[in-house]
Amino acid sequence: MHYSPAFSFTAWPAPDHDMSNPTPATPYGTLPAASPLPARKPVSLPRLAELRERGEKITMLTAYDATFAAVADAAGVECILVGDSLGMVCQGLASTAGVTLETMAYHVESVARGLRRVQGTAWLLGDLPFGSYHESKEQAMRSAAQLVHAGAHMIKLEGGDWTADTVRFLVERGIPVCAHLGLTPQTVHALGGYRVQGRDDQAALTLKRHALELQDAGATMLVLEMVPAALAAEITQQLPRCHTIGIGAGKGTAGQVLVMHDMLGINLGKNPKFVRNFMDGASSVREAMANFVSAVKSGQFPDDSLHAW
Ligand code: KIV
Repeated sequence: MHYSPAFSFTAWPAPDHDMSNPTPATPYGTLPAASPLPARKPVSLPRLAELRERGEKITMLTAYDATFAAVADAAGVECILVGDSLGMVCQGLASTAGVTLETMAYHVESVARGLRRVQGTAWLLGDLPFGSYHESKEQAMRSAAQLVHAGAHMIKLEGGDWTADTVRFLVERGIPVCAHLGLTPQTVHALGGYRVQGRDDQAALTLKRHALELQDAGATMLVLEMVPAALAAEITQQLPRCHTIGIGAGKGTAGQVLVMHDMLGINLGKNPKFVRNFMDGASSVREAMANFVSAVKSGQFPDDSLHAW
């Protein structure tokens, strides 16, 4: 079943794309020339709140370069995350902990340029990497400003209540913030591996408390990674002003995110249980991404019996 989006987006290139002035072909792959303004209005915080209000799931994929970002936008993905997962999927690092702010800014800028080039409308998030916000609120502000200068609309940072003051500081200064709880890959060594978080009563209570504190601090999005489905659904209910985006957190969150390489089936390792390969049955990357959007919107993905705990 194909979901018909409330914010319709034009085919890429748009049907009425002016082909009399196409971008000259190059041997390196070419983004299409600027097309007439797309039908989907730019995704913004009020638009995301509207989606949530009417019970429509928010979709997010990671992208790290101009072309894949443009394809994801054209496929109808609302939010594009330049995640520090790029350290693993682009740079071949063993974990995300080695990613630097300079690298993040470079990729955010590439993605922002790609979106601008196709008049993309997606909401662009940039991840603050390990060490770039841990010292002080002021350090976090300087780091966030670099990603905003590179084109990010929102920054994401990992961690519980210890980040609340930083979140408040950034939000008060006009930077929308997405928090990240559950499995926080930057601290995978402290967590003892890529394991489900919040499983016992005490851990679940702590996670709920942190989520509420982050909403109170002004976070308007919260990634919940590898958290039991029932707990993620409960947290979602408790956070009306902060949209939960799940990854391995069941279908009860306000939206879903996957790492692009995982959902395209090109992960070099073993895919985690919460991933579906959307290239299965798709004839293009764009179709795979559009299938992800429809599956999330229609409630077919994730399937809690397969992809959740
Ligand atoms: O870095 C990343 O891609 C992320 C997602 C897994 C949410 O944080």
